[in-house]
Amino acid sequence: MPHTSDAPGTDTARASVPRPAPQDVRTVACVGAGVIGGGWVAHFLARGYDVRAWDPAPDAEARLRRLVDAAWPALERIGLAPGASPARLTVTDTLEEAVSEAQFVQESAPEKLELKRELLAKLDAATPAGIVIASSTSGYPMSDMQTEAVTPDRLVVGHPFNPPYLIPLVEVVGGEHTDATAVEWASRFYEVAGKSVITMEREVPGFIANRLQEALWREALHMVANGEATVREIDRSITEGPGLRWAFMGPMLTFALAGGEGGMAHMLDHFGPSLKSPWTRLDAPELDRALYDAVVAGCEDASDGRTIADLVAERDQGVIDVLRATGRLPGTGAR
Ligand SMILES: NC(=O)c1ccc[n+]([C@@H]2O[C@H](COP(=O)([O-])OP(=O)(O)OC[C@H]3O[C@@H](n4cnc5c(N)ncnc54)[C@H](O)[C@@H]3O)[C@@H](O)[C@H]2O)c1
Repeated sequence: MPHTSDAPGTDTARASVPRPAPQDVRTVACVGAGVIGGGWVAHFLARGYDVRAWDPAPDAEARLRRLVDAAWPALERIGLAPGASPARLTVTDTLEEAVSEAQFVQESAPEKLELKRELLAKLDAATPAGIVIASSTSGYPMSDMQTEAVTPDRLVVGHPFNPPYLIPLVEVVGGEHTDATAVEWASRFYEVAGKSVITMEREVPGFIANRLQEALWREALHMVANGEATVREIDRSITEGPGLRWAFMGPMLTFALAGGEGGMAHMLDHFGPSLKSPWTRLDAPELDRALYDAVVAGCEDASDGRTIADLVAERDQGVIDVLRATGRLPGTGAR
């Protein structure tokens, strides 16, 4: 049962501040500053927030600043909020310094359940009571991660997509011990911060989009493992095919059109029986050394000499072009 009280935590060691209105948030903390945490930092900076970041890796600050610098040209192209600046990023020496004055916390540490449990408990202890803490987890239900926290009522999942500074979607869902008001608050906050939010009523492992992505990835790995398709062919099959439609119309409505004038009903009558044909492999393939090496080598081949930085720049421009072409370029979000 979700907690129904919105009373702040009772831990007296923790400063108590009222939860601000989502539109009044000025300072955000990002804990864990790798690919996703760094992407969040870039997003919040571009939206005009003060950002405090903490990551235990010795090279984390340099890595984070490189990521923000690499993202900034794309963010300038789509428009910055008034006052937005990379100078408004503070990298702190401790987790406590990052979150002690935060009005919202985004956790983006490695996807390991024990680590998430311990870290969320630490964040819960160090963050002013009532302030919402969101996890970027790709698939763990919050109910499994909030077990060690003293005030789990303000812990939510806020699942982004890479890069969080360009892909609009965030999936928001609470756990068994999350207060419904924290879920509502987080959804509203992300919207104010320029994201497109799906608020889920119930916990589903992998949420919505990763459950779909994983099905596709599993099939791709089977094809590489069995020598049925190369990495390059798999990627082209999407970018030259269904991916073009998916950028503006999801798989369900796209399939409805495959039924012609009969729409989805005809589609189901026509292709429904073939759902049972052995096109897909329901179990994940064994990620053994040979498959690992084949996938890595295939990606190197498909990169055609482009570095990761080249591909990041290409992807960022591609996402901006698609968003612009489909009228969904996020506003500059003057808050
Ligand atoms: N990569 C993606 O496409 C993607 C997309 C959506 C969500 N996510 C989720 O985001 C989270 C981060 O993934 P990532 O891809 O950025 O990983 P990453 O490896 O790029 O970054 C993880 C960062 O966490 C830091 N870290 C290690 N221990 C920590 C601790 N105890 N406390 C705080 N930080 C710690 C590491 O130094 C590193 O900088 C994961 O939960 C992942 O599932 C990833």
